[in-house]
Amino acid sequence: MKQGAIRWGILGTANIARASFLPGLRWAEGIPYAVAGRDLARTQEYAAENGIERALEGYEALIADERVDAIYNPLPNSLHAEWSIKALRAGKAVLCEKPLCLSVEETETVLEVARSSPRPLWEAFVFPWRRQTERVWEIIRSGQVGEIREVHSAFTFKLRNRANIRLDPGLGGGSLYDVGCYPTMYANMLFDYDPRSGVALARWAPEGVDAAMEGVLDFAGERRLLFSCALDSAEDTFTRLLGSEGQIWLSNAFHPGEHDTLEIHHGHDVQTEHPNGDEPSFGPAIAHIQDVVRGEAEPRHVAADESLPNAKAIDLLLQSARQGRQIAAV
Ligand SMILES: NC(=O)c1ccc[n+]([C@@H]2O[C@H](COP(=O)([O-])OP(=O)(O)OC[C@H]3O[C@@H](n4cnc5c(N)ncnc54)[C@H](OP(=O)(O)O)[C@@H]3O)[C@@H](O)[C@H]2O)c1
Repeated sequence: MKQGAIRWGILGTANIARASFLPGLRWAEGIPYAVAGRDLARTQEYAAENGIERALEGYEALIADERVDAIYNPLPNSLHAEWSIKALRAGKAVLCEKPLCLSVEETETVLEVARSSPRPLWEAFVFPWRRQTERVWEIIRSGQVGEIREVHSAFTFKLRNRANIRLDPGLGGGSLYDVGCYPTMYANMLFDYDPRSGVALARWAPEGVDAAMEGVLDFAGERRLLFSCALDSAEDTFTRLLGSEGQIWLSNAFHPGEHDTLEIHHGHDVQTEHPNGDEPSFGPAIAHIQDVVRGEAEPRHVAADESLPNAKAIDLLLQSARQGRQIAAV
């Protein structure tokens, strides 16, 4: 274990913490110090199964624990703001799951707290720290594909459990909040975090959330994202960056594994690369946060710099999809 290893606390016994955060934490040599849950017995079982040192009853207990340096917040989307604010005010570094909030107004409130807190807040989009993203930037800067003016990006999968938080409108469910926020964030990164307008159509689930959405997001300089997201379709993470001179195709822009590909296309000429290592997707982001907490790195990709434009993008698209629904109903 690294000297000065960072002690992490996890809010809730979430699947994503087990599946993605903890493998990344082990890779980054952080300490899985404690998990807090609403039910102590279930939380103890979760802690034992996942190698977490302590199980606590109630989220307040975790936030109040002075030994915790950093908090991972994978609660349902509707609880992200409240518990990230409490953790920030307690002096913790916070990695909050996406989407950080459910509206622009809520995002502004959280970011105001983040800006005046001792340690930073990150929204858990971890692709900026992956080698593939660095390689994409290298290709763009080299001029090989010219100017990128259009991005096509999909994030879809089939959700089978109808009791899942993603189908609950009261918990911030829906395909745009869950997976559509990835294409919008990726396009924000490429297009200077400056979304201007959006149009979208949704397919609505009986529960009232968007089961799927397709749309166009317009950025400054007439650069555009064409996206689709879904909770009711086969899995897809394909992203295509269309440049004036060529294209970059990514089999998975968001959580690439070592077998995922980056292709550079010039007409029929295709150059294929495998820029990703076998590290867990969350690993490099967690390593960065820990370096910041130890005072060994300047914070990068913090929520205060990047989350508001994505909240704006989501608001624009949801508004458009809801208007479309009203018009269709008349
Ligand atoms: N970045 C990524 O790659 C990625 C991938 C998947 C999910 N996510 C995000 O991670 C978050 C959690 O997703 P998940 O699939 O891991 O969800 P999950 O397994 O349902 O976990 C959510 C946890 O929140 C707690 N909770 C508190 N109030 C709740 C309520 N009213 N209903 C249900 N659970 C409640 C529960 O823990 P206790 O009962 O123990 O307190 C539960 O285990 C979401 O924000 C999602 O968008 C991110």
